[in-house]
Amino acid sequence: MANKKTENGTAYIEINNARYELPIYKPSIGPNVIDISKLYSQANVFTYDPGFTSTANCSSTITFVDGENGVLLYRGYKIEDLVEHADFLEVAYLLLNGELPNKIEKAEFDEAVTKHSMLHEQMSRFYQGFRRDAHPMAITCGVIGALSAFYHDSTDINDPHQRMVASRRLIAKMPTIAAMAYKYSLGQPFVYPRNDLDYASNFMYMCFSVPTEEYKVNKVLADALDKVFILHADHEQNASTSTVRLAGSSGANPFACIAAGVASLWGPAHGGANEAALNMLEEIGTTDNITQYIKKAKDPNDPFRLMGFGHRVYKSYDPRAKIMQKTCHEVLDVLGLKNDPLLKVAMELEKIALEDPYFVEKKLYPNVDFYSGIILKALGFPKDMFTVLFALARTVGWISQWKEMIADTEQRIGRPRQLYIGNIDKNFKKIQDR
Ligand code: CMC
Repeated sequence: MANKKTENGTAYIEINNARYELPIYKPSIGPNVIDISKLYSQANVFTYDPGFTSTANCSSTITFVDGENGVLLYRGYKIEDLVEHADFLEVAYLLLNGELPNKIEKAEFDEAVTKHSMLHEQMSRFYQGFRRDAHPMAITCGVIGALSAFYHDSTDINDPHQRMVASRRLIAKMPTIAAMAYKYSLGQPFVYPRNDLDYASNFMYMCFSVPTEEYKVNKVLADALDKVFILHADHEQNASTSTVRLAGSSGANPFACIAAGVASLWGPAHGGANEAALNMLEEIGTTDNITQYIKKAKDPNDPFRLMGFGHRVYKSYDPRAKIMQKTCHEVLDVLGLKNDPLLKVAMELEKIALEDPYFVEKKLYPNVDFYSGIILKALGFPKDMFTVLFALARTVGWISQWKEMIADTEQRIGRPRQLYIGNIDKNFKKIQDR
């Protein structure tokens, strides 16, 4: 049944006494989907759905989120199993290609990613153009967009081989780009990638080592980071992924599309929430202040929201948050930070919010970003790098979704319509008469 769009009945809609038939599709799992694509040509009406709360923009075989039951599947595999048994590059291969690699495929993929991790040397000069205090997301977004100016041999979207090379290049170069953005902000020399290290260890090495002394990657911490990457790798048609698809639907090259995804991810309602969540925990400071912040979050006249809480799709506990919470305890244990005050605030805040009728009724639970900030801080990353790390991991999902879209025979340029409520009959006045 999987990978096939099957019809499952017909829906009827009556508009001005005329009746129209709309095919209903049955997904492998989840709610049925009504096909309204011919409604405008047949009935001369649009549908209205701000924020796409009821609209499927594509069919996909990559990721599935069951928001009611807190389930997340990558290519049919449960996120819990993947975090437990696979490494990030194995998951990247799975998302890109549809199935887990065998030993030979895995070795080939790991080697290809490892060997593409250096940046064109000239690209390092791009960084010097940014102010030293530039947000690393601004740098990351700019540098990824610039990849298309350096790697012309993988920008032909109609060539499957070039698509594959571009995908691998992006996955390989993202850690280098992100680490260089970090090093630039510190004023430290860039650190070249090392081919003998695994993906997460290499990233930590590029971020935290300096030429003056030996740096030993802590395997437990690198494994925790690898888990954080797996948890962020894909999440079906969220804002940044939809942005990547929309940008790609015009035929734009993959590097430009991923840069668009990074821009969309930056906002505090999306990937920026991990930074905002940690800021919030620091602002709350001690468990004594929690009640006051819960009150603010519930006040309809106060724009304050509990960052790291709530989700458009999850109406139960985000399964990623559960794993993140466990990983958080493991990391703080290893670092001897079990009594970290922020963790105390987070745990108490979570407990109180989960019992509060406001959060219960609105089904607001901790999401992936609630604990990730504490882990990343403990690993040594500053707050403004958090969203960059999210972008690094999500690049795998973005490029997998982009690749799927390009190969989809139903794919057309994305072009939403609107409910126009503006003026229609204004008389032009010359500037001197206004
Ligand atoms: N704190 C307090 N109230 C909230 C929160 C929150 N974190 N989230 C939602 N609500 C309330 C909201 O005020 C609204 O109340 P009412 O019905 O009285 O107007 C109701 O719950 C529904 O919220 P919504 O904004 O209509 O829901 P949405 O699906 O449009 O927004 C969300 C989802 C994630 C943007 C939102 O829950 C939020 O802003 N959360 C905080 C930011 C955050 O943690 N974002 C990370 C999301 S997970 C990572 C990712 O996917 O990037």
